[in-house]
Amino acid sequence: MLIVASNSSIGLARKLSDILGARLSGCSTKRFPDGELYVRIESDLKGQDVIVVGNTRSDSDILETLFLINSSKENGASSVKLVIPYYGYARQHMIYKPGESVSSRAVLKTMENWADEIICVEIHDKATVGFASKPFTNVEVIDSLGDFFKDRKIDIVISPDDGGFSRAEKLAERIGSRALYIEKKRIDSRTVQMSLPEDDYSGKNILLVDDIISTGGTIIKAIGLLKSKSAGRIYVTAIHGVFASGSQSQISAVSDGLWVTDTIDGEFSSISVARDLAKVLDR
Ligand code: R5P
Repeated sequence: MLIVASNSSIGLARKLSDILGARLSGCSTKRFPDGELYVRIESDLKGQDVIVVGNTRSDSDILETLFLINSSKENGASSVKLVIPYYGYARQHMIYKPGESVSSRAVLKTMENWADEIICVEIHDKATVGFASKPFTNVEVIDSLGDFFKDRKIDIVISPDDGGFSRAEKLAERIGSRALYIEKKRIDSRTVQMSLPEDDYSGKNILLVDDIISTGGTIIKAIGLLKSKSAGRIYVTAIHGVFASGSQSQISAVSDGLWVTDTIDGEFSSISVARDLAKVLDR
């Protein structure tokens, strides 16, 4: 078994290689003068069962991941499993207006050209799983979140929208707390309207849990609502810390703690999903 990682996933790939006892290959990448990407896996791939760990967060991540799975196959790998810790472009799973692209399917179909199997972590829209024509596993990481928060004396786990309520419920059950969700209406990509359910928040320690933090608008609004109800400590967690426009600093300035997983490497990604992924890869 050989692990190959894109630049943005190297930290998680190292942890996976330690847990699985698999070799992590060196890879070199460079840009040609015209900006085109060059990728080379520095290992003999012939006959190898290769695990490629590559995000699809940015356009350049997608290209790098694509070249890594293509290179694995073209150079004789026996099998190629693609781990996508953060599956980007998963928000659009249908055509809302004529002429749009179903981006989550477009990314999937491209990857399926060279990946024999795809494993991702808590994909934003599970409809994408239904588009797959190769084995596709969406890994839930509640156990890792639960282990991280179990000793933090959380009174209420809150999802900032109803879509994430089952995650909040599972996490609350895991840490011996209870769960609620906020009614949320998205006005546009940067504006949301939110209202807290009636409850006693005064002095209560809250853990806000979401799947993705992007602009931070959702979480910052939720924090504001909780503060107006005199909540105690307000902690924030999410699976994927995308943190568009540096929203991590704004969130950490107004909360009592911010922790996300290492599906995207960053200053706040202190909860590792390596163990959850290793369980699936070790099957
Ligand atoms: C929405 O459906 C997601 O679960 C997140 O709440 C959303 O992506 C967060 O985005 P932002 O940080 O930009 O408010």
